[in-house]
Amino acid sequence: MNILIIGSGGREHALAWKLKQSPKVKKIFIAPGNAGTSACGENVSLDTLNHQTVIDFSKQHEIGLIVIGPDDVLASGLVNALQNSGIKVFGPTKEAAEIEWSKSFAKNLMKHLNIPTADSVEFTEIEIAKKYAREHIYPLVIKAGGLALGKGVIIADFYDQAVTALENIMTKKVFGAAGDTVIIEEFLQGEEISVHAFCDGNTAVMFPSAQDHKSIFDGDKGPNTGGMGTVAPVPTVSESILLRIECEVVLPILRELKDMGRPFKGILFPGIMLTKDGPKVLEFNARFGDPETQSYVRILKTDLLEILLACVDGKLDELQIEWEKNMSSCCVVLASKGYPGDYQKGLPITGITEAEKMEDIVVFHAGTKLSDNRLITNGGRVLGISATGNILSEAVEKTYRAVEIVDFAGKQYRKDIA
Ligand code: AMP
Ligand code: GLY
Repeated sequence: MNILIIGSGGREHALAWKLKQSPKVKKIFIAPGNAGTSACGENVSLDTLNHQTVIDFSKQHEIGLIVIGPDDVLASGLVNALQNSGIKVFGPTKEAAEIEWSKSFAKNLMKHLNIPTADSVEFTEIEIAKKYAREHIYPLVIKAGGLALGKGVIIADFYDQAVTALENIMTKKVFGAAGDTVIIEEFLQGEEISVHAFCDGNTAVMFPSAQDHKSIFDGDKGPNTGGMGTVAPVPTVSESILLRIECEVVLPILRELKDMGRPFKGILFPGIMLTKDGPKVLEFNARFGDPETQSYVRILKTDLLEILLACVDGKLDELQIEWEKNMSSCCVVLASKGYPGDYQKGLPITGITEAEKMEDIVVFHAGTKLSDNRLITNGGRVLGISATGNILSEAVEKTYRAVEIVDFAGKQYRKDIA
């Protein structure tokens, strides 16, 4: 079967790397991909927000399955358009993905289903939002209502910071239309984890737990990024906590979306804070996490293509999904100097071949490109260095040894992943 993967990040390289191992996969196309994905298949330039272009390409190249990585492509309704053309696609429809692209839809659904989450209020008028911010205890969390590349959340420690955040989001529109509404919510304290479930509309199968590190600097300091490093599974997260999240969060959402006529097929990925009062939902994503996926593919045993097809065909209950036992994985992101703000592109990258000769190391590319046969930086998050080990500390040690070897000017990374 020919596959088309849409996206250009570390997540898409990880998916291509894993799918390439399936005996059922003939050829993989990645649109647009990066320098790393070109080793797994053929990178193609497609305007993926122009649905007809994707439909035409898929027919021409006899694509048996399309896998969509990024949230904005899901929000654009590409899945609906492909389904209407009879093309198999892994990912939720626009209506099912609303759980990610509209924070107010997600919050209302959680309120309705009594799913534990932070108390929150939504605003469309900046003056009313400022008045609310003046009258509440800090820290407060300010969120753009729509999609903002994981950067639309500001944790304000005092009123002035809240005002700056509100002005940036609502007046200066630094996140575009995502800032038409703003949500101000209670700050939740605890350990944050990423939960993923394969969903086929009816059934959910949970992944092992994972943990991302969202802030740019060590000790969870500095602004939020798309994610700076992950581990899976998280040693402190028990089976019983995961079961509780499955029963209290994942299954009620799946059931409700189905009842609303929006069956969810794809990855349901709630961000969860483990508070002293139990797990609470921070947000829902309707896709694979990045870099979570870079850790997950290293410990997934079952053929990924079989799982994705079972989700699309509504046959997840017929499949046994296996993960490597007694194996942990770690991924550390190398980012450009200045990320998550402005950064330079086009800097030469060295050391990947040497790093990949090291035990159990795989380097996933994110913001990279080949120029005159030279590998150069091409984004904020540049690479994800991943390793596996029998225990987490072993995976972490191996990862950091490889991190030292890979280099580009201004390379920044967190030294405290895991
Ligand atoms: P979100 O996009 O809503 O997941 O927010 C991005 C990140 O901001 C989360 O992964 C958390 O690290 C942090 N965050 C979001 N909401 C809260 C909250 N209510 N309390 C504490 N941290 C939060
Ligand atoms: N790593 C967090 C995310 O993919 O949203």
